Amino acid sequence: MTDVLVAGPLASEALGRIGATGARVEVYADGVGGELSPEAAAARALVPLLTTRVDRGLLARLPRLELVANVSAGVDHVDLDACRARGVAVTNTPDVLTDATADLAFALLLAAARRVGEAERVLRSGGFPPWNPAFMLGKRVAGATLGVVGFGRIGRAVARRAEGFGMRVLYTSRADPPPGAPAAERVPLAELLARADFVSLHVPLSAATRHLIGRAELARMKPGSVLVNTSRGAVVDEEALAEALAHGPLFAAGLDVYEHEPKVHPALLLRENAVLVPHIGSAEAETRRAMAMLAADNVVALLEGRPLLTPV
Ligand code: DGY
Repeated sequence: MTDVLVAGPLASEALGRIGATGARVEVYADGVGGELSPEAAAARALVPLLTTRVDRGLLARLPRLELVANVSAGVDHVDLDACRARGVAVTNTPDVLTDATADLAFALLLAAARRVGEAERVLRSGGFPPWNPAFMLGKRVAGATLGVVGFGRIGRAVARRAEGFGMRVLYTSRADPPPGAPAAERVPLAELLARADFVSLHVPLSAATRHLIGRAELARMKPGSVLVNTSRGAVVDEEALAEALAHGPLFAAGLDVYEHEPKVHPALLLRENAVLVPHIGSAEAETRRAMAMLAADNVVALLEGRPLLTPV
């Protein structure tokens, strides 16, 4: 009988840690959307990737499930209400990916401001012109105002990076920042959008944040500003964003996440001023290892009857 069901490729070290408890582990490298073995129904823990929809249907196929140990900080792919109703605990992997994700947010901010993607495409297509003072002019980052929407761990880590660029930081948050948070001014979202030269999104996806940045919010953004999204694609109305990139007020956008991944809105693909990367916020070797190990540690804690490390 299976104890732990792994829905996707997981680092062998993490599998080894779970296996060392004597637990029987079944790995479905392509996910658990298809047929499961008869043994799988006995699983006490499920380790899904963020591409696995953990919904009522899947829970019904796993009647003895006690834990969903995600390998991600975001849990929008999990029906939390259904888990709660069934008494299934949910864990995620916060902290270990904070720096990697903040680095990528800043990389996108710089790339969008300085037109790095567009400039590289010009060079690779043989369009490298003689040096020209008016060529590929971007937007100044140093000393500009950064608006951080959501001042959790990753938002604060982005603000810390902005300090090094002499940026002024505005933020929105429902909670008060913890002691030691970077110096920043808390403002309502509408004010942040109107004042910031760069806006970086760091809210989890929920019913309240779906299309948080829609047509009206984009219209409120400062002319010539830049939007960066490393949170979840559906926080932004992509069609409205493509229009704001084409007709203003935005100068550029840097995106790591998309509403219908792996599909990217075709209008965004047409925009030279959109820097688009395929959900690589945490894609850094140490970070991905730490995420897998933390998920494994949560599973081991369940199997050994200890408190979970990072319950949601
Ligand atoms: C997460 O953990 O939610 C990230 O999106 C993975 O990169």
